[in-house]
Amino acid sequence: MFIANSPDYQEILRTIYDEVRPLLSQGKVASYIPQLSKVSPQQFGMAIFCLDGRQFSIGSAGVKFSLQSVTKLFALALAFSREGDAIWTRVGREPSGNPFNSLVQLEYERGKPRNPFINAGALVINDILSSRFVQSDIAILQFARLLADQPDIDFDVTVAQSERETAHRNYAIAHLMKDFGNLHNPVKTVIDSYCRQCSITMTCAELAKAGSFLAQHGTIPWSGQQILDASSAKRLNALMLTCGTYDAAGDFAYRVGLPAKSGVGGGILALVPGELAVAVWSPGLDPTGNSLAGTYALERFTTLTARSIF
Ligand code: DON
Repeated sequence: MFIANSPDYQEILRTIYDEVRPLLSQGKVASYIPQLSKVSPQQFGMAIFCLDGRQFSIGSAGVKFSLQSVTKLFALALAFSREGDAIWTRVGREPSGNPFNSLVQLEYERGKPRNPFINAGALVINDILSSRFVQSDIAILQFARLLADQPDIDFDVTVAQSERETAHRNYAIAHLMKDFGNLHNPVKTVIDSYCRQCSITMTCAELAKAGSFLAQHGTIPWSGQQILDASSAKRLNALMLTCGTYDAAGDFAYRVGLPAKSGVGGGILALVPGELAVAVWSPGLDPTGNSLAGTYALERFTTLTARSIF
């Protein structure tokens, strides 16, 4: 479909795919979750979901991958839609400037995580959902299915099990918060649910579609269903920009200029508010835990399309 003033997205994806090839061997796949270390770093996929319904994709955009921390966005959106501003008594809204799984700040700041996207903050959000739903992991899964309009989206139970067996840091974070009174459910309940949440798999095409409500001011573009009011959607976009890529958020904003959420599976979801959602996946990570080729692909995307929030 030709739309006046719209970039040729398919041609831009082809250009980006050619440009990222040399980078695919440079990142390192996450190995602290043993099951993730089995994924080949050579893979790359990218998909665009425009709010007017057009979709574009390239490479392995149809291959399922482990969303990991990208699910923190869906869990937060669900918690925010149900609990509103009450969540901010339990978790902050400032960038941490520390690695996503750091314990250091949590001790100084008496068990209140800096933001909902570092692991500590995501555990608190999961705890809030565990108090509200009989099974918070199932609630997040069903929410993800609704957002992606895809009923067969599911957990990867092997990845969830692999993470649970090696989740020593997340257990430490959860126990510390429990000691400070900021975890209301049993540590094991929250860790089990969190590991299942993180194991949800999607393709890039599904992820771009699932994130599109945040580009459309909180409303699902194809159904008109309001998930969040426009003001709340704006606030989640702001959090993605400032905290969505951890201690690399400043550099990511400088290079890409879009609100985004990354995960150690190598996926990144980014938004051009009012226009589109774009998802990229390449499992090789940079030292901050963000996809190396994925970040570069998004940097090229905003350069080649002249789309960014700035
Ligand atoms: O808790 C963890 O360590 C993983 N389940 C998720 C971490 C993650 O994806 C951070 N992303 N860059």
